[in-house]
Amino acid sequence: MRVTFTPLGTAAEANSNETVLDAARRADAPIGNSCGSVGVCGRCAVRVLAGAENLSAPTTIELRVSAQRGFAADERLACQAVVMGDVEVTTGYW
Ligand code: FES
Repeated sequence: MRVTFTPLGTAAEANSNETVLDAARRADAPIGNSCGSVGVCGRCAVRVLAGAENLSAPTTIELRVSAQRGFAADERLACQAVVMGDVEVTTGYW
Protein backbone atom coordinates (compact mmCIF):
# COMPACT_ATOMS: atom_id res chain seq x y z
CA MET A 1 0.00 0.00 0.00
CA ARG A 2 1.98 2.89 -1.33
CA VAL A 3 1.28 6.47 -0.27
CA THR A 4 2.70 9.08 -2.65
CA PHE A 5 3.16 12.69 -1.61
CA THR A 6 2.89 15.06 -4.57
CA PRO A 7 4.65 17.29 -5.56
CA LEU A 8 7.31 16.36 -2.98
CA GLY A 9 8.17 13.28 -4.97
CA THR A 10 8.35 11.14 -1.84
CA ALA A 11 6.43 8.00 -0.96
CA ALA A 12 6.19 5.37 1.74
CA GLU A 13 4.65 1.96 2.18
CA ALA A 14 1.86 1.93 4.75
CA ASN A 15 1.58 -0.99 7.10
CA SER A 16 -1.74 -2.46 8.18
CA ASN A 17 -3.90 0.01 10.11
CA GLU A 18 -1.58 2.93 9.45
CA THR A 19 -2.93 6.33 8.54
CA VAL A 20 -1.80 8.72 5.83
CA LEU A 21 -0.08 10.71 8.58
CA ASP A 22 1.85 7.63 9.73
CA ALA A 23 3.10 7.09 6.18
CA ALA A 24 3.91 10.78 5.78
CA ARG A 25 6.17 10.68 8.82
CA ARG A 26 8.03 7.72 7.37
CA ALA A 27 8.39 9.52 4.04
CA ASP A 28 9.58 12.75 5.69
CA ALA A 29 6.59 14.52 4.17
CA PRO A 30 5.67 17.30 6.62
CA ILE A 31 1.96 17.45 7.43
CA GLY A 32 0.67 19.98 9.94
CA ASN A 33 -0.83 18.57 13.10
CA SER A 34 -1.33 19.81 16.62
CA CYS A 35 -3.81 17.53 18.36
CA GLY A 36 -1.78 14.35 18.62
CA SER A 37 -3.81 12.66 15.87
CA VAL A 38 -7.00 12.86 17.88
CA GLY A 39 -8.80 14.34 14.89
CA VAL A 40 -9.88 17.69 16.29
CA CYS A 41 -7.38 20.30 15.07
CA GLY A 42 -7.97 19.88 11.34
CA ARG A 43 -4.38 20.86 10.56
CA CYS A 44 -3.54 17.55 8.90
CA ALA A 45 -5.99 18.02 6.03
CA VAL A 46 -4.73 16.70 2.70
CA ARG A 47 -6.24 16.57 -0.76
CA VAL A 48 -6.56 13.11 -2.24
CA LEU A 49 -5.36 13.11 -5.85
CA ALA A 50 -5.82 9.40 -6.47
CA GLY A 51 -7.00 6.32 -4.62
CA ALA A 52 -9.69 7.89 -2.44
CA GLU A 53 -11.45 4.53 -2.49
CA ASN A 54 -8.39 3.05 -0.81
CA LEU A 55 -8.87 5.08 2.37
CA SER A 56 -11.10 4.15 5.29
CA ALA A 57 -14.45 5.90 5.52
CA PRO A 58 -14.37 9.17 7.46
CA THR A 59 -14.79 8.76 11.20
CA THR A 60 -17.55 10.58 13.06
CA ILE A 61 -15.06 13.10 14.38
CA GLU A 62 -13.59 13.61 10.89
CA LEU A 63 -17.06 14.26 9.49
CA ARG A 64 -17.66 16.84 12.20
CA VAL A 65 -14.36 18.67 11.59
CA SER A 66 -14.88 18.49 7.83
CA ALA A 67 -18.31 20.08 8.12
CA GLN A 68 -17.15 22.77 10.54
CA ARG A 69 -14.24 23.78 8.32
CA GLY A 70 -15.99 23.40 5.00
CA PHE A 71 -13.65 20.79 3.55
CA ALA A 72 -13.87 20.04 -0.15
CA ALA A 73 -15.05 16.56 -1.15
CA ASP A 74 -11.46 15.47 -1.84
CA GLU A 75 -10.07 16.58 1.52
CA ARG A 76 -9.34 14.11 4.31
CA LEU A 77 -7.73 14.26 7.71
CA ALA A 78 -4.41 12.46 7.33
CA CYS A 79 -4.49 11.34 10.96
CA GLN A 80 -7.87 9.66 10.55
CA ALA A 81 -7.68 8.16 7.05
CA VAL A 82 -6.40 4.59 7.28
CA VAL A 83 -4.57 3.40 4.17
CA MET A 84 -6.04 0.28 2.56
CA GLY A 85 -4.41 0.55 -0.87
CA ASP A 86 -2.35 2.86 -3.05
CA VAL A 87 -3.12 6.54 -2.64
CA GLU A 88 -1.67 9.89 -3.72
CA VAL A 89 -2.13 13.06 -1.67
CA THR A 90 -1.06 16.69 -1.68
CA THR A 91 -1.33 19.81 0.46
CA GLY A 92 -1.37 23.49 -0.36
CA TYR A 93 1.96 24.10 1.37
CA TRP A 94 4.33 21.66 -0.34
S1 FES B 1 -3.59 15.92 13.59
FE1 FES B 1 -5.27 17.04 14.37
S2 FES B 1 -6.91 16.51 13.09
FE2 FES B 1 -5.28 15.35 12.36
